[in-house]
Amino acid sequence: MKTIHGVKGFHDVVPQQSERFTDIEGRLRAVLAAYNYGEIRTPIAERTELFARSLGETTDIVEKEMYTFDDRDGTSLTLRPEGTAAVVRAALEAGLAQREQVAKLWYLGPMFRRERPQKGRLRQFHQVGAEVIGRDDPLADAEVVTLLVDCLRACGLEAAELLINSLGDAACRPAYRAALAAYGRAHVDVLCANCRQRLDRNPLRLLDCKEEGCRRVMADAPLVRDHLCDPCRAHFAEVERLLRAAEVPFRVEPRLVRGLDYYVRTAFEVLAGNLGAQNAVGGGGRYDGLVAELGGPPLAGIGFAIGLERVLLATAASGFQPPAPEVDVIPLSTAATAAAVRLTRRLRDLGMRCELEAAGRSVKSAMRRADKLAVRFAVLIGEDELRAGRATVRDLRRQADHRLALAVDDDGPELVETLRTLGVAGGSHG
Ligand code: HAM
Repeated sequence: MKTIHGVKGFHDVVPQQSERFTDIEGRLRAVLAAYNYGEIRTPIAERTELFARSLGETTDIVEKEMYTFDDRDGTSLTLRPEGTAAVVRAALEAGLAQREQVAKLWYLGPMFRRERPQKGRLRQFHQVGAEVIGRDDPLADAEVVTLLVDCLRACGLEAAELLINSLGDAACRPAYRAALAAYGRAHVDVLCANCRQRLDRNPLRLLDCKEEGCRRVMADAPLVRDHLCDPCRAHFAEVERLLRAAEVPFRVEPRLVRGLDYYVRTAFEVLAGNLGAQNAVGGGGRYDGLVAELGGPPLAGIGFAIGLERVLLATAASGFQPPAPEVDVIPLSTAATAAAVRLTRRLRDLGMRCELEAAGRSVKSAMRRADKLAVRFAVLIGEDELRAGRATVRDLRRQADHRLALAVDDDGPELVETLRTLGVAGGSHG
């Protein structure tokens, strides 16, 4: 029979990788808890119009990267390409996004974009994101950026570089957009085909083009900072001041734009040095018009998302140790299986990570396997042990044998207690 392969750009996460995922997720959860955010879980599919309306019709995502399909009743659905639009929709529906109220929400889950797969770029990838709905003050910006930096630091990404910029708002951006389009038009002959199309539809994206010719031209393009209105300028200056106060290192990058249209004012990205072309490990910004755009009150919002696969790639050399079993229980014959299964269950109840072997191996092959598992203790139960009612506990680190009572029914079974005192971690729910 022919094997069936997984889908291009959709990856399995297998043990060791999954343990690293869990480790990173745990670190992120702890930071998010310290910042007092609540977790929100939204479905992976939404109505297509949610993304079309919020991300922008002319963005790469909406134009060509969404997994969109018709449900059987004809409703157009899309696998979420990002989390913000869905979180805002859900917050509105749950009554969390209201005037005089602030919602601080975080989420973790798979996102789907039909991009060209390459290192650090998948079609199904995972984000941890955070959103604050209902704050328009610069302190909220500074706190969200600080949260992003602290999240990445907790994952071991100390050296990543934080870039920030202001993209202006509804008052000042139209004039900047026009200036940028005029500049692009004056250099249209050197722009790539993509950028020519962007000229009228989304000129800000000209600043983000990776083509050499476009980059050279855009190096002298007008900058948004020279077009900011006074309130945007003051807002950005205050964000900078507060980041300095929080001792968060950053660089103002006046050419930073983002791939989604909902951003206004503060936008930011964190780059890791060792990832090649797909080096943004996280990014975000302010989206003050989005809540109203989705039918809610005129509430401001700001947030970010971190790409988990990229964090894992960037920290691959960190020497992560996957958890190893602590005890290997070895019934040497089928006569010993009942005692072995009872004992193992008791140990697992106490939170010890245990392996229970199939019956019938020789002591030699069982010990080879215990060595390979790198367990601290092998518990051997054979004919002798059954007859004596005592298991052989081999301490592989100290190369010592103990003979301990097998009985696990009493309150303080000797074997279990001894394993605990000998230093098996366990005991978390014992
Ligand atoms: P984004 O910049 O599109 O922003 O994505 C955030 C992060 O997700 C990126 O920095 C990257 O690490 C990761 N990522 C994006 N696409 C891929 C991919 N194809 N493969 C692997 N990783 C990827 C957002 O999604 C916004 N919703 C962030 C936000 C929240 N803004 C405000 N609130």
